[in-house]
Amino acid sequence: MTPDVRPLVAGNWKMNGTRAALDQIKAIAEGVDGPLAEKVDALICPPATLLYVATALSTDSALMIGAQDCHQDQSGAHTGDLSAEMIADCFATYVIVGHSERRSDHAETDHLVRAKAEAAYAADLTAIICIGETADERKSGQTLEILKRQLAGSVPDSANAETTVIAYEPVWAIGTGLTPTVDDVEKAHAFMRAELVARFGDAAKTMRILYGGSVKPGNARELMGIANVDGALIGGASLKASDFLAIYGAYEVLTA
Ligand code: PGA
Repeated sequence: MTPDVRPLVAGNWKMNGTRAALDQIKAIAEGVDGPLAEKVDALICPPATLLYVATALSTDSALMIGAQDCHQDQSGAHTGDLSAEMIADCFATYVIVGHSERRSDHAETDHLVRAKAEAAYAADLTAIICIGETADERKSGQTLEILKRQLAGSVPDSANAETTVIAYEPVWAIGTGLTPTVDDVEKAHAFMRAELVARFGDAAKTMRILYGGSVKPGNARELMGIANVDGALIGGASLKASDFLAIYGAYEVLTA
């Protein structure tokens, strides 16, 4: 956690969920409507097909809705893509950019991720910019170097704590059940904070840096209690309302 920073618990549903899964959105919207909502933000990023209905279901709730990707251009001949404006038009307020699955499945570069984040800002969306090292990069001791390069390349110069959230997701920890040690997470997050403050000044002291990669109800409190970890980006465990809410609920103790 970071002093004076409101944590964000974010779920990334990836390519999962049909209309039947809207029940889970409803349950999450209801579940985050307690006193904890005064201290902690909750966000679900369902597939694009569910965006509009998901925002409608959560209008009276503290739950926020986001998308998983956007195109870097405002409109045009880009078959199958979504613009940031279209996402905002569904009343969503966040968009994930540069997730490692986008980087690997669609060969997205830091340069492109930066352009996507800028497109998000132009549509008044908050961008969750994902970075993280692969297993090989970690083995060869390059973790911090990779984080430095990805932060420099993927985060726009105009980023600030309101418009931007960083998500540190070690690629080898995503969907594997593996997580870095507390010490490793602490070092990585302290390093990212220092890099951001060096570039953006004091304003970056309150920029949220999430941890993602195999966050579960059983490890949430430990991971989210680490210095400079300002929330979580959750894949698999965000699909079930009970798991997502259990992770969110870890902040009952952490913020007490
Ligand atoms: P996971 O995914 O929680 O299933 O490991 C995290 C992510 O990719 O955002």
